[in-house]
Amino acid sequence: MKPKSRLVQSNQDSLHSDLVPLWKKYKETQFCKTYAAHTRIAFESIREKISNTSQPIILDSGCGVGHSSIWLAEHYPEHWIIGVDKSESRLKKNPYVFKDSPSNLFLIRAELIDFWRLLRENNIGIDRHYIFYPNPWPKKKDVKKRFHAHPVISDLLHLSSYFLLRSNWHIYVLEFAQAVEYWLGIEPEIKALEAIEPVTLFEQKYLASGHPLYELSFSMPLPPRSQHK
Ligand SMILES: C[S@@+](CC[C@H](N)C(=O)[O-])C[C@H]1O[C@@H](n2cnc3c(N)ncnc32)[C@H](O)[C@@H]1O
Repeated sequence: MKPKSRLVQSNQDSLHSDLVPLWKKYKETQFCKTYAAHTRIAFESIREKISNTSQPIILDSGCGVGHSSIWLAEHYPEHWIIGVDKSESRLKKNPYVFKDSPSNLFLIRAELIDFWRLLRENNIGIDRHYIFYPNPWPKKKDVKKRFHAHPVISDLLHLSSYFLLRSNWHIYVLEFAQAVEYWLGIEPEIKALEAIEPVTLFEQKYLASGHPLYELSFSMPLPPRSQHK
């Protein structure tokens, strides 16, 4: 990875005006896209383990090479950590792929849009959910590719008791906050990150390039049945 990276360039300088109309539409319709076969297989490979455990679960969505997943496994030894990314080549670069990985860590290749829905459908609640530096899709016309503007947003937000997202694009974080308020009726905390130890490779690159970094988080009690069924 190159040491320097450019700031996010966008033809959007404020929150996208299509968001609320899109969310209204999603509330009135059902998103029924068929699950990708590889994601279903990946989900089935861990379903029994995570359905029948009393150990709380941490999800690291879009984990890339999985540095953050390892960091989480080390900081939360009592949790199962599931790192998910669609890119096999990134996951293969994880330093634990060819060595003994922490026993509480799973790295899985899957499509998140489907994986989140499968977790919800199977009533598997997540204790802590992390998304470090999601692809921002900064062009105005690409708004629907942002996670918060996708029909899956409701499942994503109802999945966990605690949620944390980091991004180097302020507008992305502000839009995500608007989604949290729209779907959950709560105001998430947003803060600028300064002088932190990087947890992921992208974070390391952005810090080295002097980018401002932002963090959004919120907590929400899940119904007991879905805590860790
Ligand atoms: C900008 S990278 C950040 C990687 C890592 N979290 C980090 O901070 O270093 C975004 C990651 O999300 C993954 N990703 C994006 N959309 C995805 C999706 N729909 N399903 C699964 N992974 C996805 C990409 O493959 C990529 O590894």
